[in-house]
Amino acid sequence: MKDKLIVALDTDDGEEINWLSGTLMDIVGWFKMGFQAFSELGIEAFPWFDQNGYKVFVDLKFHDIPNTVARDVGTMTKQGAHMINMHASGGFEMMQAARFSADEASDDSGIPKPILLGVTILTSIDETGFQQNFGSERQLTDQVVYLAQLAQAAGLDGVVASPLEIEPIRKACGNNFLVVTPGIRPKWADPGDQRRITTPAEAINRGADFIVVGRPIIEAEDPLEAARKILDEMRGM
Ligand code: C5P
Repeated sequence: MKDKLIVALDTDDGEEINWLSGTLMDIVGWFKMGFQAFSELGIEAFPWFDQNGYKVFVDLKFHDIPNTVARDVGTMTKQGAHMINMHASGGFEMMQAARFSADEASDDSGIPKPILLGVTILTSIDETGFQQNFGSERQLTDQVVYLAQLAQAAGLDGVVASPLEIEPIRKACGNNFLVVTPGIRPKWADPGDQRRITTPAEAINRGADFIVVGRPIIEAEDPLEAARKILDEMRGM
């Protein structure tokens, strides 16, 4: 389960990042760098994570014209990012250009191809928020599945979605298409701004390939203990 748990390093405090990554070293396989960690550590942190046996998920949620996103993704690939995401709503052409660029950068540098993910609908948005913000005729889950199919057709490896949508995504995209799920809240944790949530155990039971957890670990009084409890839940203990 260590390799299915991605810890979101959502802080720009370098000392805290050092402390968290050192403390969680033996029990966590993946760290996620969003803009905060990225602004503090920069791209130079990728080799450090790699040398210490971690995998890095670069969560910068690219969303731009195809040429720009292709270049962004190519840069991240050359620097050794293991997982990179972009908003699937950026469109088929954007995602296809990103795939092409990642593959080319990987072939040129000899660095393994990164996992490319499309972000569907943020897990902080519920059905009402979706209707209000997107003005769509579709139901939220149908839009998630639609974007997942688009991402798959464009050559991405998977999507970011809520654990609540794993089953319909699997039905539409099959078992080899990755589903990475934030919106994870153990019973003892505050949901905060997350809306489409499940517990770690439920996400694993529903078939999540990876779960992403931030505040329940990094804001816990004892992050190591919190991560251990989540891993136990994932193992069904
Ligand atoms: O603190 P929490 O566990 O809610 O953190 C979830 C992490 O996953 C955050 O870093 C957030 O940016 C990210 N994320 C998300 N929903 C998405 C995509 C990414 O919550 N759809």
